[in-house]
Amino acid sequence: MKFITVDTYKEMSRKAANLIAAQMTVKPTSVLGLATGSTPIGIYEELVERCKNGDIDFSAIRSINLDEYVGLDGESDQSYRYFMNYHLFSKVNINIADTYVPNGKAADIEAECKAYDARIEEFGGIDLQLLGIGLDGHIGFNEPDTCFTGETHLVDLHPSTIEANARFFASKDEVPTKAVTMGMRGIMQAKKVLLVANGPKKKEILEKAFFGPITPEVPASILQLHPDLTVIFSQYE
Ligand code: F6R
Repeated sequence: MKFITVDTYKEMSRKAANLIAAQMTVKPTSVLGLATGSTPIGIYEELVERCKNGDIDFSAIRSINLDEYVGLDGESDQSYRYFMNYHLFSKVNINIADTYVPNGKAADIEAECKAYDARIEEFGGIDLQLLGIGLDGHIGFNEPDTCFTGETHLVDLHPSTIEANARFFASKDEVPTKAVTMGMRGIMQAKKVLLVANGPKKKEILEKAFFGPITPEVPASILQLHPDLTVIFSQYE
């Protein structure tokens, strides 16, 4: 594991964007696993700028996102599909048909989950997976549990996750209580994993996840077993 501590959010975003840009340069047909949340927004801004400058090219990139709320469609401005379109896809030269986010409105969620895993397999796995980390140690929406789940699956969001994500909604009651998330197999099979975390509030969970025991009670701790993991932590917000 490479654990890189920087001072500012800007530095974290630039270093993470450097790694993603390098991946895209050496393999222009990369499959990028992408994340939402507040932490990667600065990375997406950097990537948009680099794409505008002609430094990186998204035309042959395929992307596959970690998760989506159940019950929201892509038109809803709280959905993760909307987030990705807004922060990245609409601003770079990616083919939108090559971008995948779970369908939170699928009539058959189980079939949606199976199809999602089949897609990852068809891609030959993810080349670089970008992750944030929740205050409870979740990655994607793999919440603390008694076991790790390999497949893409339906989850009940942890009360602390609902609390943390209420900031994006008009009220806590509007935060969906369920989500579809990529499971640990998709994440762990990624060739490279890049986890970003911003600010002192994430320090304690990072210590548990990367310097404590590997346990499904701290889902991100499984990443200690990944052969190519980089963590970039900005210690001040
Ligand atoms: C989002 C996701 C989540 C977030 C995590 C941290 O796709 O998978 O695991 O990465 O909740 O969110 P922020 O960055 O808002 O602190």
